[in-house]
Amino acid sequence: MEGKLRMRNKYKKPTTLRCSAGNRCSLPVAVVSVVVCLFLLQLYTLLPQKDAFKLDTRILTGKSFRELEEVDEENIQVPPPRKRSPRAIKRKPKKPTTIIEEFLDETSQMRHVFFPDIKTAIDPNKGNDSFYYHPGRIWLDTEGNPIQAHGGGILYDDRSETYYWYGEYKDGPTYHAHKKGAARVDIIGVGCYSSKDLWTWKNEGIVLAAEENDETHDLHKSNVLERPKVLYNENTGKYVMWMHIDDTNYTKAHVGVAVSDCPNGPFEYLYSKNPHGFDSRDMTVFRDDDGVAYLIYSSVENSELHVSPLTKDYLDVSNIVSPVLIGHHREAPALFKHQGTYYMITSGCTGWAPNEALAHASDSIMGPWETMGNPCLGGNKIFRETTFFAQSTFVLPLKGLPNYYIFMADRWNPADLRDSRYVWLPLKVAGPVDQPLDYDFGFPLWPRVSIFWHKRWRLPFRLSG
Ligand code: GAL
Repeated sequence: MEGKLRMRNKYKKPTTLRCSAGNRCSLPVAVVSVVVCLFLLQLYTLLPQKDAFKLDTRILTGKSFRELEEVDEENIQVPPPRKRSPRAIKRKPKKPTTIIEEFLDETSQMRHVFFPDIKTAIDPNKGNDSFYYHPGRIWLDTEGNPIQAHGGGILYDDRSETYYWYGEYKDGPTYHAHKKGAARVDIIGVGCYSSKDLWTWKNEGIVLAAEENDETHDLHKSNVLERPKVLYNENTGKYVMWMHIDDTNYTKAHVGVAVSDCPNGPFEYLYSKNPHGFDSRDMTVFRDDDGVAYLIYSSVENSELHVSPLTKDYLDVSNIVSPVLIGHHREAPALFKHQGTYYMITSGCTGWAPNEALAHASDSIMGPWETMGNPCLGGNKIFRETTFFAQSTFVLPLKGLPNYYIFMADRWNPADLRDSRYVWLPLKVAGPVDQPLDYDFGFPLWPRVSIFWHKRWRLPFRLSG
């Protein structure tokens, strides 16, 4: 007993910091210790945290949203018209007059605001600014190349505990197949990137490739492959990809299906069709908690959306289909479910040009859907009315953070489509709706869906790598 006590006393640490003339080293030692401690603390915060979803919600409600006030685009001004030579006027008579025209004008003096150059790229190899998202900046993969996953979506693969980001791999020159046709690039295929932390992305290659020679093939490079999304089917153990398949002029309006045994491909292309005999352009898929998956597609010349449950193997649509938001002319649907309610973000139909997003809600995925208004907050009015100069593509739930989601959008660059950017922002479902609904259908007043503009932000927790 006595021995034990003595031992304890021997190793007892002093609880007060003594500083006396007799103790020559104590002050420098204390300073060095503090510096070392701070350094170690800094190192620790840079390490990926094991406890992935332990989070400090104060960061969310406090610090990170304060960045809303630090938007440098707050006073965005359209520059005065430039002096142009008569030759230039003849060549291109129309001067940009609106901010959207300015955005679309590749020679605009404001180009850097919308499309910051490579010097500002998000680079996982640099380490500085780690885990920060910078909407609109070039985003490099682990090999230092710009990520090519446009119009994309993310699958969290439980088996490999990895996120997979699939999207349109855009490269090569942007051109117009016809004078009035939309700007396009040839199909290269579907790009796939994997990540454990949603910030560091490894290129997994093209998981569904274009067809080079057979002109009759859906995936011939002269056609259109857009908005690929992947689901895992528990019944078959297969990964199923759905995508928009079209011809150069967007007259075919098909939905296409491909399948793979692995999340990182290769995917085998199966077929395309007009679902339920309807035209289908922008689309997405959504898997509900009960394992039933749905295809949601813009139809009847984009005037309405159709929702259809998929077959059990996810390889086809069932024969049930429900038209929703009839006459609303919405596209780029991105769905998610929050506390039993279905939510959807959509865009208007203005091709590659940005427009105002709308949030919709419904108690049943088959509708009726109610429109709640523009979910965009922060930034300035122009940013909010253009979905931050981007278009919705996907909403990613964040495990362990029930009220928050990542809103994923594309800032298209129609002058050079491969240089289109990603706009990822925090989305929250909470708080009262902006305005009461027009009619009382006996629906509940759903909470507001808010997408917050941030010039720079990061998740309030570190996902383990
Ligand atoms: C948009 C659509 C994009 C792409 C583009 C072509 O309306 O959302 O995915 O199809 O048109 O102009």
